[in-house]
Amino acid sequence: MKEKFTFIDLFCGIGGIRIGMEKAGGRCVFSSDLNKYAQETYENNFGEIPEGDITKINEKDIPSFDVLCAGFPCQPFSISGKQKGFDDVRGTLFFDICRIVKYHQPKVLFLENVKHIIHHDKGNTLKIILQNIKDLGYFVEYKILNARDFGVPQNRERIIIIASKNKGFNFDKVKIQQPVYLESILENNTKENFLDKKDYTLIPKDKINIKDSGLIFIGYRNKNIWKKGIRENTEHLSRVHRQPNRIYSSSGIHPTIPSQETSGRFFIYIPKIDEVRKLTIKECYRLMGFPETYKINKTITEAYKQIGNSVCIPMIKELAIEIEEQLLKESNNA
Ligand SMILES: C[S@@+](CC[C@H](N)C(=O)[O-])C[C@H]1O[C@@H](n2cnc3c(N)ncnc32)[C@H](O)[C@@H]1O
Repeated sequence: MKEKFTFIDLFCGIGGIRIGMEKAGGRCVFSSDLNKYAQETYENNFGEIPEGDITKINEKDIPSFDVLCAGFPCQPFSISGKQKGFDDVRGTLFFDICRIVKYHQPKVLFLENVKHIIHHDKGNTLKIILQNIKDLGYFVEYKILNARDFGVPQNRERIIIIASKNKGFNFDKVKIQQPVYLESILENNTKENFLDKKDYTLIPKDKINIKDSGLIFIGYRNKNIWKKGIRENTEHLSRVHRQPNRIYSSSGIHPTIPSQETSGRFFIYIPKIDEVRKLTIKECYRLMGFPETYKINKTITEAYKQIGNSVCIPMIKELAIEIEEQLLKESNNA
């Protein structure tokens, strides 16, 4: 594909944002992540080792670029309740983004974070982020988007912040897709991680709860479930069924893949074969829209952590297409 814009991939992880941007015609000119396992995966897939700790990288050593991309770690800002501008964010990783923006003056900023950042420090964290971007001379817009609207069967909400020198980004123009279901991404012949029938309980059909999110909570693991004091036949309604104990049907969509450890993985029920099992690692990467050719890290715990930290690639791609269309095309043709 002909190059349409250049970008840098900060806090790059395993390059989920990079793949989305490349699919829209972007070319990556710089990447950084301090985690050595993420660097390893990134190198295997893109043939380059990302630079390390961003706090130690001089902005002058970064080549010029059109779009700054960053799925940065979410840190609350220390001065709560007040809004003192640029000085507020010194010492946080967001400050490193600001200092790179100040020096390079890119046309567009593309930031991704957990939805929860909206509530951090009673909304102060987001307020400071937006104000600092405005103070740097940008129009800024943000929206909570869900992976399930981009052709992958996962309920994963993320905040996307897009800032531009020229005008505000219009999120309403981003192409949304019809939902697809978990069964469409399953591997057929896996023998991994099946649960014995005695280790789980399926909820009676008339009590199955289909949530607005598209998740179908269909049962729970019997192991380690505290049933004391809970009325018989109401166990499935109880809060004691912590998320990883819950079983969701593959006829619906999957909950957010967590970034922690393998223990956080959910079990799924597959009606076609009447069995319960965990997702395979390959299925987790499919749930984020990663290409089949992607080289997953050989250390399995790292591979799960890395995909849980990453992004829904088709969502990034659709946003990148619109960024190019709305914010870059005109200035590139000028
Ligand atoms: C939420 S993840 C981003 C994942 C990425 N978007 C992807 O598609 O895989 C945040 C990343 O920031 C990295 N990170 C944290 N502190 C950093 C620092 N000081 N310098 C560079 N990278 C850092 C972590 O190692 C982690 O991979």
